[in-house]
Amino acid sequence: MTAPRKPVLAGNWKMNHGPSETARFFADFLPMVEPGDDRSVVFFPPALSFAAAREALQGRPDVRLGVQNVYWEASGAFTGELSVAMAKDAGAELVLIGHSERRHVFGETSDETAKKVRAVLDGGLTPVLCVGETLDERRADRAEAVVTEQLAPVLAILSPDELGELVVAYEPVWAIGTGVTATPGDAAAMHRAVREQLSAAFGQAAADAVPVLYGGSVKPDNAAELLSQPGVDGVLVGGASLDAAGFAAICRATG
Ligand code: PGA
Repeated sequence: MTAPRKPVLAGNWKMNHGPSETARFFADFLPMVEPGDDRSVVFFPPALSFAAAREALQGRPDVRLGVQNVYWEASGAFTGELSVAMAKDAGAELVLIGHSERRHVFGETSDETAKKVRAVLDGGLTPVLCVGETLDERRADRAEAVVTEQLAPVLAILSPDELGELVVAYEPVWAIGTGVTATPGDAAAMHRAVREQLSAAFGQAAADAVPVLYGGSVKPDNAAELLSQPGVDGVLVGGASLDAAGFAAICRATG
């Protein structure tokens, strides 16, 4: 029997909260959330706010930080990009890879996400791989096929040991920032499909160790129900993670 997966409560701030706002956020948020090792709380602030977040989190090792994106090369003439080593040096433990805004606004392909996952693992950080279908793809009954196609190039470059380093976030694109959430049943069904794909590639025990998060309009009033679904190991929260009281309520929804 595998150890139960710890719930992960992750806030993706996207292009919100500069350094001053970040300091204010944590001054409000930290007193509302007791340190505890029964869950994992993670924030993905913008890169420019990372130092302010790290400073605010001194003495709170229960809250971890990640960056929202990296480039796969180690250094060089790549204007605007961040390397994995830089992210690690700054104190990041995790990296969001393949968020739907990276895929759909910035044109990132699944092969590029695989290269990024490779670089993140080689650099000793944890990749949080985001996958999810658009509304048209869901209406065309292709939701599972799309998620499978997004996962496959990443699974192809992992060794069995490395699977244990991966976190997957299922985020239906039509639920991101729209106020529409997948029904708990739809979320649970896709989480089951993701775990079956992991299991087919690496075996059930290895697949069971991978946290699979749900993201897309998670709010304080729907977090508990989503988190109680079988196979939903946590949430990746955008808009509602910008509000200290709201995100603190989501962190307490793990039951
Ligand atoms: P949302 O974003 O919670 O604002 O829908 C989720 C995400 O994009 O990670």
